Amino acid sequence: MSSSENKPAHKLADLGVNEPAQIAPLFTEIRARFESAAIAAHDESSWKQFRDTWLGRKSGVLTQITDNWLKPSSPELKRAVGAALNELRAHVEAQVEARRAAIEAGADEAALARERVDLSLPGVVRTIGSHHLVRQVFQQIEDIFVSIGFSVVEGPEIETPYYNFEALNIPEFHPVRDDMDTFYLELPKGAPTPLLLRTHTSPMQIRTMEKRQPPVRVIVPGKVYRRDNPDATHSFIFHQVEGLAVDTDITFCDFTGTIEYFVKQFFGSDVKTRFRPSYFPFTEPSVEFDVSCIFCGGSGTAASGGTCSKCKGAGWIELFGAGMVDPAVYGFVNYDPKKVSGFAFGMGIDRLAMLKYGIDDIQVFFQNDVRFLRQFP
Ligand code: FA5
Repeated sequence: MSSSENKPAHKLADLGVNEPAQIAPLFTEIRARFESAAIAAHDESSWKQFRDTWLGRKSGVLTQITDNWLKPSSPELKRAVGAALNELRAHVEAQVEARRAAIEAGADEAALARERVDLSLPGVVRTIGSHHLVRQVFQQIEDIFVSIGFSVVEGPEIETPYYNFEALNIPEFHPVRDDMDTFYLELPKGAPTPLLLRTHTSPMQIRTMEKRQPPVRVIVPGKVYRRDNPDATHSFIFHQVEGLAVDTDITFCDFTGTIEYFVKQFFGSDVKTRFRPSYFPFTEPSVEFDVSCIFCGGSGTAASGGTCSKCKGAGWIELFGAGMVDPAVYGFVNYDPKKVSGFAFGMGIDRLAMLKYGIDDIQVFFQNDVRFLRQFP
């Protein structure tokens, strides 16, 4: 709007207005200008400009009318200008507010349209992972033992030599330690005891008996660590399940019955089992537990007619170590060896899984190759 068109910027006298009758047409003209400006205010920024043009305190049209037309007018003209100005002000204020509300509502609608979710579109299918085979085998073993009254406990992977060795009847300098004296932690000087990564789950035998009185029936799944060179059947980190049952009248028969029940549940009722004498400082007598070779059915001969490569022709595969708890161990947990007896076993889970699922290299468990993992959904 140029200042020549903008009549409120000029005094009434300069516009040649000196009669009250000339006032109404002037205001009609102003109002028409206002209506077209209102239509042009279609978004937030043009609305702000529109509001300031008409209601701005310093130089808005209504302020100009007040300053140039109302204030300097004669009392006669003032009355007519005042009445028309009041009417115009009420209209302008109401319309400015109405435009603001309309623009805001329009913006909300636009946003709603923009953000509308089309529920008829097909959803995004996310692939769900599965348990690692070692975890699945843990679960199978837990289910079997829980069904015959064992409970599951877990213990620390960082152990003291006392629990990992001494309390299991393995004193310092005992030759059995040679295989297991492995990953020690670097501790600050003055640490109260050395710490190591446990080499078997057997320390949990001691921790459990320290906490509980007989009858005790627990299994302990977990990770263990040894300085073994990696090959097809050895890893420096692997998994074991420890088992311990102690009560007042547990015999070797209970022991063999429990183990055989487990093996038949786990591998199927066709497998044959056998014990061989062995040695562990914390069991007496100690045994190695074998199953008939799952691959050649115990014959020692492969389907091709040659020697079975898995059992090397023996027809048997070693499964795990076990035995009756050595009475010396009870001394470390304040059980009376004259009153209680029990058995313990420690299974290598990775090797059990390899046997059951025909896997010929333990390393695949730790390589995280999805082509392997996907075979065991
Ligand atoms: C022990 O660890 C005894 N604590 C087991 C035990 C418990 C005996 C309770 C008596 C009473 P051993 O060192 O044999 O025993 O290990 C048990 C099983 O762990 C082995 O039969 C084997 O399956 C598995 N194992 C041992 N070393 C490795 C390795 N480096 N990689 C993968 N599996 C292994």
